[in-house]
Amino acid sequence: MEKTGKYKRILVTSALTYANGDTHLGHIAGSILPADMFVRYSRLAGYDVIYVCGSDEYGTAIEMSAIKEGISPQEIVDKYHFANKKAYEQLGMSFDIYSRTSTDTHKKTAQDFFTNLYNKDLLYQKTEKQLYSEKEQRFLADRFVIGTCPVCGFEEARGDECENCGSALSPLELKNPRSTITGDTPVVKESTHFYFPLSKFQPKLEEWINSKTDWKPNVVNYCKGWFKTGLQDRAITRDLAWGVPLPMEGFDGKVIYVWFEAPMGYISITKELFASQGNEGKYLEYWGSEDTKLVHFLGKDNIIFHAIFFPAMLMAHGDLVLAENVPANEFMNLEGSKQSKSKGHAIYVKDVIEKYNPDSIRYAIASNMPENKDTDFYWSDLQAKNNNELGSILGNFVNRTFVFAEKYFDAAVPGAGEYKEIDINIINSIKSYTSSIASYYENYKFKDAVSETMNLVRDANKYFNDTEPWKVIKEDKARCGTIINTCLQLCRTFAVLFNPVLPFTSEKLYRMLNIPAEGNTWDNASELKLSGGHKLNKPEILFARIEDTEIEH
Ligand code: MF3
Ligand code: ZN
Repeated sequence: MEKTGKYKRILVTSALTYANGDTHLGHIAGSILPADMFVRYSRLAGYDVIYVCGSDEYGTAIEMSAIKEGISPQEIVDKYHFANKKAYEQLGMSFDIYSRTSTDTHKKTAQDFFTNLYNKDLLYQKTEKQLYSEKEQRFLADRFVIGTCPVCGFEEARGDECENCGSALSPLELKNPRSTITGDTPVVKESTHFYFPLSKFQPKLEEWINSKTDWKPNVVNYCKGWFKTGLQDRAITRDLAWGVPLPMEGFDGKVIYVWFEAPMGYISITKELFASQGNEGKYLEYWGSEDTKLVHFLGKDNIIFHAIFFPAMLMAHGDLVLAENVPANEFMNLEGSKQSKSKGHAIYVKDVIEKYNPDSIRYAIASNMPENKDTDFYWSDLQAKNNNELGSILGNFVNRTFVFAEKYFDAAVPGAGEYKEIDINIINSIKSYTSSIASYYENYKFKDAVSETMNLVRDANKYFNDTEPWKVIKEDKARCGTIINTCLQLCRTFAVLFNPVLPFTSEKLYRMLNIPAEGNTWDNASELKLSGGHKLNKPEILFARIEDTEIEH
């Protein structure tokens, strides 16, 4: 049953991952895991939801990496696109599609968008001085040039941004500029570029953001800061070889600026999703309708692009839906300092996945998600969460329930007899947990959702302890059957309620319970659906202990 309500559909995006390196836990915590949890919850709750993501394959970040690795940009993006797609799969990310921006569909989408604004006379051209390297015979855009930051004096500031103070820069503002690749001092040469009149959109953007009463304060505060400084028009073309070429004749050697074109990847990837189902036009049911709830998940460094720049582009276009929410996260640092692939200081998914249960990784990140402030990932915390919560609370409850059913009830669900108050209490509390956890998900409070779900298991363990089935079995097998029946019903509830954060465990639970996952929904999670006599499968170990010798230090 699909929900109605204010919106008919939900369209979820995670920031597209640059395909110039391996994805790391910083990406997972910032933009991928919260989106996946939200989507998994939304599907179970009966919403019509799609989740699109993919690789961001243009821009100077990619070209720089290619030059450094001595291979072509295409080779770089092919390598990392497939590597990251696989890494996300191994961590249980449930995209409806994970595609990329180097497709023809994307090129056409971005060019049509550009043409749309161009035809409306919304773009203007300006000839300006640019830095040019005679040695390399290229303009030094964005990351191709470094120099001293005019704001803070940092000597390694990039042409697009100072990583030290966060200022947005243009190459000409740098003092002592030099080529990132050769160290060469550039000359100044003129070039003509298209500009997007972002400043003109400031009043509309302010009005729009002020109308959003449920956005996270950190996101709104960032935006207000930029409004205060005043939005500047942005050049949306570059003199580069790698990128989406301009759609008009006469602009050879120019491509669309990556931050103008990449967010359109959300649109082109949605098109591809429906094209693969034989109905490309269906993308407009999502993108072309005010009934769509568009939610962008991303890290704080991307807020300006998703809450300001892309919405302004969409306003200029006019026929497409704007974000309903941009629940950006802060950063998850690694044992005290920022994860960064350019600095090689990060935990790569491909490495952790070799050693640890993917659900344990998801759980450790979700329960420490940087929702309102930066957090730190500690290896010791992964170990503690795995052993003391997943293993000792969830694994233990499931295990003792199944062992009991196997030993005393022939590996089947015992029938339930008359309920006592203690049974009714736990059965009723499932209902209230189900609705409180739902409301945490609806409000992007992932940490709370996860801890509340674990609290239900704590209550379940208390129920097991208080009802003492190991004693009752000796005196009153029927009563013991009622207790174990209730515990097994709880295991099914866990398979539903933990699905957003522990999808692999959820699958295992369904397998152990010998029921298909289909048909188990958020709405029926609190019902007692297992009938007496239903055969169970063998219990599996849900969470192997992580010993001190097995954890990184
Ligand atoms: N690749 C960018 C980053 O990692 C994010 C791009 S999001 C998009 O910072 F919207 F532009 F696609
Ligand atoms: Zn600076």
